[in-house]
Amino acid sequence: MSDQTIETLFAEDRRYPPSPEFAAQANATADIYDVPFEDFWAGEGRKRVTWFEPFTSLLEWELPYAKWYGGGKINVTYNCLDRHVEAGLGDRVAYYYEGEPVGERAAITYSQLLEEVVKAANGLKALGVGKGTPVGIYMGMGPGLPVAMLACARLGAPHTVVFGGFSAEALADRLNDMRCEVLLTQDESYRRGQIVPLKRNADEALVSCPGVMKVVVGQRTRADVPMVEGRDLTWNELVEGQSTDAGSCPCEPMDSEDLLYLLYTSGTTAKPKGIVHTTAGYLVGVATTHSMIFDLKPETDVYWCAADIGWVTGHSYIVYGPLCNAATSVLYEGVPDFPDKDRWWDLVERYKVTILYTAPTAIRAHMKWGPEHAAKHDLSSLRLLGTVGEPINPEAWMWYREHIGLDRTPIVDTWWQTETGMVLITPLPGVTTTKPGSATKPFPGIEAAVVDDRGEEVGPGGGGYLVLKKPWPAMLRGIYGDDARYRSTYWERFSGMYFAGDGARIDEDGDFWLLGRVDDVMNVSGHRISTIEVESALVDHPSVAEAAVCGRNDALTGQAIVAFVTLMRGEEGSVERLEELRNHVAVKIGPIAKPANIVFTPELPKTRSGKIMRRLLRDVAEDRPLGDTTTLADPAVVAEIADRAVAQPADE
Ligand code: WTA
Repeated sequence: MSDQTIETLFAEDRRYPPSPEFAAQANATADIYDVPFEDFWAGEGRKRVTWFEPFTSLLEWELPYAKWYGGGKINVTYNCLDRHVEAGLGDRVAYYYEGEPVGERAAITYSQLLEEVVKAANGLKALGVGKGTPVGIYMGMGPGLPVAMLACARLGAPHTVVFGGFSAEALADRLNDMRCEVLLTQDESYRRGQIVPLKRNADEALVSCPGVMKVVVGQRTRADVPMVEGRDLTWNELVEGQSTDAGSCPCEPMDSEDLLYLLYTSGTTAKPKGIVHTTAGYLVGVATTHSMIFDLKPETDVYWCAADIGWVTGHSYIVYGPLCNAATSVLYEGVPDFPDKDRWWDLVERYKVTILYTAPTAIRAHMKWGPEHAAKHDLSSLRLLGTVGEPINPEAWMWYREHIGLDRTPIVDTWWQTETGMVLITPLPGVTTTKPGSATKPFPGIEAAVVDDRGEEVGPGGGGYLVLKKPWPAMLRGIYGDDARYRSTYWERFSGMYFAGDGARIDEDGDFWLLGRVDDVMNVSGHRISTIEVESALVDHPSVAEAAVCGRNDALTGQAIVAFVTLMRGEEGSVERLEELRNHVAVKIGPIAKPANIVFTPELPKTRSGKIMRRLLRDVAEDRPLGDTTTLADPAVVAEIADRAVAQPADE
């Protein structure tokens, strides 16, 4: 076997073709795959958005920099709000907002959202914010967050949203890298019934951010937070006396390639990368994919993306895509298990949610808690489910379909990245036959491939590296201030192609199976095995809720597989259970993939966006000091796992 590809061993043969009823009403039909690339994106560019001045050139591509919709003038906020109100949709609900404390609710219409945005934009203008002023946003999941983003976009002021769970240090790094002059934050936010002290963190960060001249503080909990004279003002002070009339604050006409926002993402070095997203291509990309992949019917659907706006998923599929499409969305402030584990299903029932988009990590948490929480609620309004963020284990996909989709809704497993801005590999729900665990096909207009170490395409069934061979409208336009890193991270690994950093394989039907980050691939006796496949085999066992595997050095086999396993509620870890699970993997995949040892643990270490941090598990497995833990959601988890790993000796 070659060591240049990733071996794929996991066989999955369940198939779910779209129902004739769904297919008959679907927004996207099979013929769009045949539309030539230029025609497709030119057509979507004219159809999805309203231009102040039409574009004159579709694409200028000088690898690795693309320019889309050249010559066009456009404003994102105009497309997300003003034009809908002008078209008579002002009374449509943009967001059903639900606070974490039970009973805090508001239905916010497009007219109301526009008024809030205009007021805020007028206030920001009075502070000196205008086209090109960089603004930092550090807020919790409330309506104030989209208002802040849209007010910036109205003025042409680029923003960077820093997830509310990040520390003062992470906030300071980002504000300084973008040279933000203004910070929009809030007193505190709620998370699982606890307080998150956003303003206190912001104050700590601002000690090392001399460029930030003004800080606006929204009042969420109304806590009495210290205010710095001359620098800080409350949100009420910002908007007091400001006009809500759209005409008082016209939308800035932006060039297609003007900066819309930066969003920071972690890389292999400690310095986060400011991913650059510009205006027109991004908006066309997210609006097109949102409409086609989620089959959005804006008049009747209630769409809920349960991510946080602080991640790219929230930028593209809670704020910009859905609002551009005049959707009605749910915006939920809190966690899924507060006050009870059925909170999400209560929301689905009450708002009659039709489309739900979430992450595999959330689905696995619900699996662990058991299906009885969903069963208490009427979920029959749901007609489409989606996932994003990690490869989904087939058993989690099946659980989602069965217990949430009531065995009838299609599931769209959508692959994309902060860098790609929009979904790139995904089923189209009325067209594609889905398979649990496969993200299926590149979206129309997208050319993806799987290549080996030399950049040669790998044939059907073979595993390798996922690459993109053509530019797409919402693609990143670089890493802010770091051209060399942009080129070396994404464009130098394979000449002429975008390197995503993910492993993948394409099966006989041309469907893509994502295998996780390539840095997570293990090498056992010369076989390169992807972590996701061993994890999926473990999760396939009825006693297992969640699993993460990694390789540790082994004198004999190069690497040996170590598995960290969280059992279902009520199950106990034991030597017998350990043997049973090892044999289960041997049966599902083959003896080569049998974990050398298994550590039972109540939790796995995850980033704040829910991705398992295998790098730390490798440190534990190798009994090394832990690497950088600053992006961990709960640092205590790793210490506990390390204790258990020592207590459970290797088995072979
Ligand atoms: C992973 C999130 C498998 C992948 C939008 C990617 C996925 C990284 C999927 C980007 C999926 C995302 N199947 N893996 N459907 N979706 N990923 O930047 O490793 O937070 O490179 O963007 O998540 O994560 P990011």
